[in-house]
Amino acid sequence: MVKKVYIETYGCQMNVADSEVVVSILTDHGYEHTDEIKEAGLILINTCSIRENAEQRVWGRLKAIGHLKRKNPGIVIGMIGCMAERLKEEAIEKEHLVDMIVGPDAYRELPLLIAEVESGHKAVNVLLSREETYGDISPVRMDKNGVTSFVSIMRGCNNMCAYCVVPYVRGAERSRDAESVINEVRDLWKKGYREVTLLGQNVDSYNWKSGEHIIAFPELLERAAIVNPLMRIRFSTSHPKDISDELLHMMSVYPNICRHIHLPAQSGSSRILKLMNREYTRDWYMERISAIKSIMPECAISTDIITGFCTETEDDHRETLSLMEWAGYDFAYMFKYSERPGTRAARKYSDDVPEEIKTRRLNEIIALQNKLSIRSKKHDVGRIFEVLIEDFSKRSQDHLSGRTSQNKVVVFPGEGKIRGEYVSVKIESSTSATLLGKII
Ligand code: 5AD
Ligand code: SF4
Repeated sequence: MVKKVYIETYGCQMNVADSEVVVSILTDHGYEHTDEIKEAGLILINTCSIRENAEQRVWGRLKAIGHLKRKNPGIVIGMIGCMAERLKEEAIEKEHLVDMIVGPDAYRELPLLIAEVESGHKAVNVLLSREETYGDISPVRMDKNGVTSFVSIMRGCNNMCAYCVVPYVRGAERSRDAESVINEVRDLWKKGYREVTLLGQNVDSYNWKSGEHIIAFPELLERAAIVNPLMRIRFSTSHPKDISDELLHMMSVYPNICRHIHLPAQSGSSRILKLMNREYTRDWYMERISAIKSIMPECAISTDIITGFCTETEDDHRETLSLMEWAGYDFAYMFKYSERPGTRAARKYSDDVPEEIKTRRLNEIIALQNKLSIRSKKHDVGRIFEVLIEDFSKRSQDHLSGRTSQNKVVVFPGEGKIRGEYVSVKIESSTSATLLGKII
């Protein structure tokens, strides 16, 4: 009988891309992918460690699926990804909920590790690598729409943001062979995909040596953009200290490179940014936003904010609010600081902002962003946008949903159009999350 693998993914888009690599490796070893956990002989949970609550969610889920194993002891349950890397053997010992622990650079070993579990042992491989990029592996696509997809262009991270666990769980930064990235983009185009997001922890430091020639991110982006003018290219994530004018000018030349930059600020206070080891100041960040707006006035900008980092005062908090207001973000991910064991902040500073103050500041940040998001969408009413259709709208089969180049979701009456097509939509109204319009 064919063995079936079920995989559940937590955390970022990088993890989503990794799960597709994992399924590809397992498919090559005789497994079949299933969306039905009850059918699976192998259950993998691809985990995230970024904040404590991300880990708690995974433990909750593992407890919930524990009954499957009690019913059928032959099932293999594996924890893979960032939490596996952070906890190592401890993740097996903790609650005896998993048989196997596999870190992000050890996925090629999965077939061997599964065999080890099947022969009655627990299996662990959390070795990090300086070379592994899985560049030669063709991911098995698990997206639902067949229109938008992710391509990982690098792994690991060399920045040492004081709060962040990523360098510890994903290892040193390494770039993937440019040729294999572009081949994957071409392959997606041929399969009918119309949008790819190039993924890396810090895409601006992409660096691939091709003979004597060094390919940096702007060149990689250009090569992806010329695969086909109807293939939209996005990328994530940029680091404010590294995002260059060269990149912005490159974007501006190609209409299919989407007019959206995710530029995590984390804080609006230079003092906090220094403690966070972000290597830029508030002024530097503002200058980068000004550069984006002057080179591409139509470009949407989103951000990540952490509130309540060690020693953060009301003045620091107000600087974050004023930066957000000034930048007028179209969208933001906002978090309370969560201390991660082993990071520089955990070792050197005390997590001294009381929980209720973190909560209050976060609520103020969310309320402000809500106002900014509404303002950003109101500004689009009456204008016409090219929309790539991704799916039916959640509410009705008569309506379709897609996104603008600026990454804003648009819902409109379908008029016989299908996913993967581009349409011109005139925006008639907006909510805080969505633009509503009509095809013209
Ligand atoms: N606590 C809270 N948020 C964090 N992030 C990263 N580490 C932490 C942490 N320890 C946020 C940052 C980052 C995003 C992916 O998660 O804003 O950009
Ligand atoms: Fe992604 Fe970071 Fe979470 Fe790992 S810890 S899954 S890299 S967000």
